[in-house]
Amino acid sequence: MRALQFTAYGGPEVLEWGDAPAPHAGPGQIRIAVRAASVNPIDWKTFAGAMSGGQPMVGTGYLGYDAAGVVDEVGEGVMGISVGDDVLGRGQNTQAEYAVLDSWAAKPSSIDWAVAAAAGLAGETSERGLRLLGVKAGDTIFIDGGAGGVGAAAVQMAVARGAKVIASSSEANQDYLAELGATPVLYGEGVVAGVRAAAGGGVDAVFDVAGKTAVDELISLAPEPAQVVTIANFAAGDAGVRVSGGGADSHPMKALAQVAQLLAQNKLVIKVQTFPFDRAADAYRISQGGHVRGKLVLIP
Ligand SMILES: NC(=O)c1ccc[n+]([C@@H]2O[C@H](COP(=O)([O-])OP(=O)(O)OC[C@H]3O[C@@H](n4cnc5c(N)ncnc54)[C@H](OP(=O)(O)O)[C@@H]3O)[C@@H](O)[C@H]2O)c1
Repeated sequence: MRALQFTAYGGPEVLEWGDAPAPHAGPGQIRIAVRAASVNPIDWKTFAGAMSGGQPMVGTGYLGYDAAGVVDEVGEGVMGISVGDDVLGRGQNTQAEYAVLDSWAAKPSSIDWAVAAAAGLAGETSERGLRLLGVKAGDTIFIDGGAGGVGAAAVQMAVARGAKVIASSSEANQDYLAELGATPVLYGEGVVAGVRAAAGGGVDAVFDVAGKTAVDELISLAPEPAQVVTIANFAAGDAGVRVSGGGADSHPMKALAQVAQLLAQNKLVIKVQTFPFDRAADAYRISQGGHVRGKLVLIP
């Protein structure tokens, strides 16, 4: 099969769409013929070497943490899914012709492949953040970085819960945030005052998706530091903020079921820009720029 790969750390120029060994579904897993796989910042952090802990590159690296496709192998112990079913989900090395998924949900038939692929990691992360924060109807939440992959999903999933959502973006994405159902504020200097003005005071929860605003500023908006959850500022734990990397605090099967339901109901709408796999480097250059609206998705 073919897979996106790299043999040296660097920029998007190290990527190659080339031959690779096909993976197989182990116990509790499924394999899919990939119809689309999304780009996430973790992918370029990986090929840039930022996740290597300073170790030199060994062997070949592969990319991708989510995808949508058609099931073609069902691992031992897996129930409720059959060869030929259309699914979306999370796995590793998904930017390939075939990929193994660890968690999945049936793809709603009304949702196209690229949107389904885009929903995996961003949707699971959003469900996790909102669950950890206990966001419920009537709450006010501030989502710092509301226009990107995770942010746009989190805004809509919080709105679907009946929360009032205030979200930040650059000037260019203020109208997009309003379209998603949030009260937009500009990030950067003055963001705290902007949120206070929009909320009429503090908020019940802060979901830091971007990791760019000083942690003290985010804490000043919440009833207590633990009501700030960040997925992108890994130093923030020292201040009492909850840092989530998606390990034991992740409930991926439940999250993806919820995400698929919201997609089917049009309560979660994901704006996607697609690229063929052999132009993945172009998608990664855009992702590295840090101002993605919605999601970038690779298709075979
Ligand atoms: N820990 C986890 O489990 C987990 C899971 C998924 C993602 N992540 C991390 O979370 C981060 C976001 O991921 P993503 O997929 O949503 O990225 P993305 O799609 O590239 O989105 C980036 C967004 O950040 C916004 N942004 C840029 N500068 C900002 C600032 N100063 N303040 C607030 N927002 C700002 C941009 O808005 P404008 O375009 O309007 O500038 C853009 O919409 C990445 O670092 C990623 O690695 C962590």
